[in-house]
Amino acid sequence: MSTKDLFATRTSRMKASEIRELLKLLDQPGIISFAGGIPDPALFPADEFAAAFQRALGSDNRSMALQYSVSEGYLPLREWLVDHMRQIGVECGVDNVLITSGSQQALDYLGKLYLSPGDTALVGWPTYLGALAAFNAYEPRFDRLHMSGNRGASEYAAAAGEGAVKFAYLSPDFANPTGETVDLRGREDLLDLADDLNCAVIEDGAYQALRYDGEPIPPVLALELARKGSIQDCRTVYCGSFSKTLSPGLRVGWVVAAKPVISQLVLMKQAADLHSATINQMAVNDVARACFDTHIPKLRRVYGARRDTMLGALQRHMPDGVEWTRPEGGMFIWVTLPKGVNGADLLERALETVKVAFVPGQAFFPDATGSNTIRLSFSNSDEDTIREGICRLGDVLRA
Ligand SMILES: Cc1ncc(COP(=O)(O)O)c(C=O)c1O
Repeated sequence: MSTKDLFATRTSRMKASEIRELLKLLDQPGIISFAGGIPDPALFPADEFAAAFQRALGSDNRSMALQYSVSEGYLPLREWLVDHMRQIGVECGVDNVLITSGSQQALDYLGKLYLSPGDTALVGWPTYLGALAAFNAYEPRFDRLHMSGNRGASEYAAAAGEGAVKFAYLSPDFANPTGETVDLRGREDLLDLADDLNCAVIEDGAYQALRYDGEPIPPVLALELARKGSIQDCRTVYCGSFSKTLSPGLRVGWVVAAKPVISQLVLMKQAADLHSATINQMAVNDVARACFDTHIPKLRRVYGARRDTMLGALQRHMPDGVEWTRPEGGMFIWVTLPKGVNGADLLERALETVKVAFVPGQAFFPDATGSNTIRLSFSNSDEDTIREGICRLGDVLRA
């Protein structure tokens, strides 16, 4: 019997993330990487964090900062989040807020909360790879969430077979990997569908604050609240993150939902890690209160300019037959190559010949289709590097 024979069946669906494997190669000198969807470290509010950690470790606070704390999360941070959520249209109380170790942990818990083996998760096609990985551990089947509303509840329910459709997962603002935004009509249609299917909606707001142009669209949870009057009656679960705005390394995210959902997630958190790091929550609370509102416009300016530069460079350097999205925010542009051009092969060629990296798109599709797509991230390269990298990519594609 091999070691692996002892592993649970769920492990057979766990694969090394293509992105993580790839990131290991990117330390080589001279590589231009549009691969990882990561913030530019030059934009971290690092001085503010240095001061916040110093305060947390000062004599008044250190016994709390270094101690165990409650699973729900640091109360002042949850209070700040209640205010933040109100500003984006979601009225809730502190009891509706749970702090998680990044929003990735929330996705894992939500998979655990809703999915029995064989249940259906509706997801975008493509969708966030980390969500697929998180849900996969609970052995669901995936079905395609059509935002155009061209498939009704009965069709989804029939396709679900013996299991049930448990939730629809989406990142409605500037999704990873496509950069696309779901319009107001699409959000309302989704709520109708969820009501018809009696399933939950998992709204991933990881990039919500990073809008560079166009008008903000209310979160799905805000739209549902407007319909139902109270968060207690809402089926939408909102996942937020400080990773793209303040710092991913501190691993602080949050969930906003009806109390029964939060209570169950708290039990999961107690079983998994008791609570997120106390000192990190204290520091994030301090920094969010000190500078979130002034920091976001800075990020929007810099990332917005990088997006414009990448769109301009694509226009200039891509050969005929290549198409791409024009995101209003976030970190990604999604490129569709001519049929027959394989994104993974292109990556190999691009790394070898012109030292440019990106993520082949196939990994974002639950059924491993989409081989002629790639994801480009513009967030962590300056504008000259973006111009140079896209020019080189154009050369490889033409060759
Ligand atoms: C759409 C989306 N959701 C969630 C996450 C997880 O972020 P974190 O766990 O750092 O909050 C990411 C990270 O890239 C993401 O792109």
